[in-house]
Amino acid sequence: MRVARVLNLLSAIFLFCCIGTAVAADPAQAPATLTNADCVKCHEKPPKDIASNGGKHKTEVTCQDCHQGHPPKVKKPIPLCSQCHDGKPHYKLQGCLNCHSNPHTPKIIKFGNNVTDPCLTCHTPQIEKLRTFKSKHSALACSFCHNVHGRIPDCTQCHKSHSAEIVQKDCKACHQAHMPKEVTYKNDVPSKFCAACHKKAFTLLTASTSKHSKLACAYCHKDKHKTVPACTQCHVKPHPAAIMSKFPKCGECHSIAHDLNHWSAPAAAPAAPKAPAAKKPAAAPVKK
Ligand code: HEC
Ligand code: HEC
Ligand code: HEC
Ligand code: HEC
Ligand code: HEC
Ligand code: HEC
Ligand code: HEC
Ligand code: HEC
Ligand code: HEC
Ligand code: HEC
Ligand code: HEC
Ligand code: HEC
Repeated sequence: MRVARVLNLLSAIFLFCCIGTAVAADPAQAPATLTNADCVKCHEKPPKDIASNGGKHKTEVTCQDCHQGHPPKVKKPIPLCSQCHDGKPHYKLQGCLNCHSNPHTPKIIKFGNNVTDPCLTCHTPQIEKLRTFKSKHSALACSFCHNVHGRIPDCTQCHKSHSAEIVQKDCKACHQAHMPKEVTYKNDVPSKFCAACHKKAFTLLTASTSKHSKLACAYCHKDKHKTVPACTQCHVKPHPAAIMSKFPKCGECHSIAHDLNHWSAPAAAPAAPKAPAAKKPAAAPVKK
């Protein structure tokens, strides 16, 4: 191996002599031109990197498209990225090589955990959400969470869940990463998820024997957290107007939605709407 190296070096020196002197020494003879196939004879790593992870720097350009000339004739044959990459905001960034740390493997990208602005040259919807809907996430750098390009972190990497029943894949049933405080959900979010924080409402409702107990939390508290529905959204004109104007509050007779008075139970004589005095029928379950 060592012998081969020495031989290589010798032939390198020889080649340099050719490159340097060929033209002057013998104008009749064609100058020895360096081809892309020659590079690997003396440079080990760049050709290897390009071969394994060169991407478009392998398929769209050659060594010599970038490295025009060679020492000693051209002292530093290192290209500027801007020679070929121009015209997009991304190409106006400083320090291309800070992220594309090896131009021979351009898609292997490394950056620190405090990067935001460079990301915005390609991604904008996320920053709009982060800025419009202020939360503690708004103060974090993009790469604090996405520390490898394209990687999506689990919420549970940094947060504890609200309950054992809620696991990583469930977080986005209620939260969006870039606007985590705007809690919204669909009708099918399980009531036991709400129970993580609303134990009392959950126990009361599930223990109740009224028809409401069959309904999901999200069926009544629709779409957005803290939405409280009016009874009349679902029960349009439940009783004659005369009664309603006299007793405008449903709760006076029915108690609360989670624990409706249960008048059909055998022991409790149903109180007719005309007899609002029956505020607390005997068999009414315990109220809060
Ligand atoms: C015969 C051996 C040999 C061949 C073939 C060769 N090089 Fe070199 N190359 C060297 C040596 C030795 C140096 C260091 C010269 C110096 O620093 O003055 C060098 C330097 C370089 C540099 C400059 C590195 C720097 O840090 O400034 C680049 C770029 C380069 N070569 C690219 C190429 C490319 C591209 C090819 C193929 C087209 C090639 N070389 C072919 C031996 C070779
Ligand atoms: C897209 C342009 C591009 C292509 C294609 C490219 N290089 Fe480079 N190369 C660079 C740049 C830019 C640097 C300087 C990197 C730095 O400063 O860290 C470099 C550095 C080098 C160096 C000196 C530093 C080192 O890593 O040893 C050599 C030698 C080299 N290239 C050889 C090659 C060879 C051989 C090929 C083809 C197999 C090649 N390059 C293809 C852009 C390119
Ligand atoms: C000699 C021209 C040339 C130079 C110099 C050059 N590139 Fe490229 N590069 C290309 C071409 C051509 C492509 C493929 C078309 C495109 O994506 O624009 C490319 C593609 C890329 C890609 C995408 C690779 C892929 O596989 O999708 C990256 C990243 C990149 N270049 C970064 C750089 C960086 C960083 C530098 C400076 C260190 C640089 N380039 C210098 C010509 C060049
Ligand atoms: C903060 C890190 C960072 C810096 C600085 C940076 N890039 Fe990039 N670059 C990226 C990321 C991330 C990608 C996306 C790669 C992907 O699509 O997988 C990328 C993609 C590219 C691409 C291919 C996609 C495209 O839009 O063309 C090129 C070319 C490129 N960069 C060139 C450059 C040049 C030139 C510079 C310097 C002016 C530079 N980059 C500076 C991170 C960076
Ligand atoms: C890389 C770590 C990280 C990841 C991943 C992460 N967060 Fe956070 N999150 C934080 C930090 C740091 C805070 C601020 C904590 C503090 O100051 O108490 C925070 C705060 C929050 C807050 C409170 C916001 C406020 O303004 O009060 C919510 C809600 C939240 N995260 C939800 C999520 C959800 C949901 C996910 C997944 C989609 C997630 N987080 C992913 C680090 C992370
Ligand atoms: C608190 C951690 C955190 C921060 C800060 C953060 N993200 Fe995200 N990002 C995530 C999580 C988690 C997802 C996955 C969301 C999902 O699965 O619904 C994500 C998804 C993405 C996606 C995929 C598409 C999408 O919107 O869902 C992109 C692109 C993205 N983030 C870019 C960014 C950019 C750019 C920034 C900075 C402006 C940023 N992120 C800041 C955690 C974060
Ligand atoms: C040069 C443009 C460019 C830059 C700069 C860039 N990205 Fe990307 N990013 C892309 C492209 C292209 C994709 C692939 C898009 C896709 O698959 O939909 C991507 C994908 C992502 C994804 C995964 C999206 C998904 O749906 O899985 C995340 C997360 C992401 N980028 C975050 C970032 C962060 C954070 C930064 C800054 C550190 C950044 N990007 C810088 C172009 C870029
Ligand atoms: C059923 C809906 C729902 C699900 C599912 C959910 N969250 Fe929440 N989360 C909330 C609500 C509502 C709040 C806000 C409470 C408030 O206003 O104080 C919250 C607040 C948070 C906070 C802020 C601090 C705190 O504990 O109050 C973090 C962090 C958080 N959630 C992380 C997560 C993570 C991680 C997951 C997935 C494992 C998750 N959440 C799943 C509804 C949900
Ligand atoms: C992470 C804990 C958490 C989760 C999960 C959660 N909530 Fe809440 N919720 C809260 C907090 C904290 C409040 C504010 C309590 C207060 O102001 O006294 C609240 C308030 C409410 C309110 C009352 C608003 C008002 O005006 O009084 C309703 C209704 C509500 N939540 C419904 C739900 C529903 C439905 C779910 C499930 C989809 C749910 N919550 C999931 C923490 C949570
Ligand atoms: C989002 C819709 C919705 C809201 C809001 C709502 N309910 Fe209901 N309620 C229902 C449904 C659905 C039933 C069952 C109907 C059936 O099965 O016939 C029901 C049944 C009832 C019953 C009959 C109970 C039984 O067991 O026979 C009463 C009484 C009632 N609701 C009163 C109320 C009162 C009072 C409120 C406000 C505190 C209210 N509802 C809010 C949807 C709703
Ligand atoms: C039938 C519709 C309905 C269902 C189902 C329902 N709620 Fe409610 N909820 C209401 C109404 C209406 C109010 C307003 C108080 C009232 O009039 O009863 C309320 C009030 C609340 C409040 C604020 C007052 C309080 O009691 O703390 C919370 C929190 C709440 N609900 C959570 C939940 C949770 C969690 C579930 C599921 C376990 C749930 N709700 C199921 C209709 C419903
Ligand atoms: C003065 C007392 C009183 C008031 C106020 C009152 N109700 Fe009733 N409501 C009753 C009685 C009594 C019944 C019959 C109970 C039964 O049949 O078991 C009843 C029955 C109902 C039923 C069940 C009808 C069915 O077909 O099963 C609904 C729904 C209802 N009320 C909704 C409401 C709503 C919504 C309000 C407020 C807008 C309201 N009630 C106000 C006393 C009242």
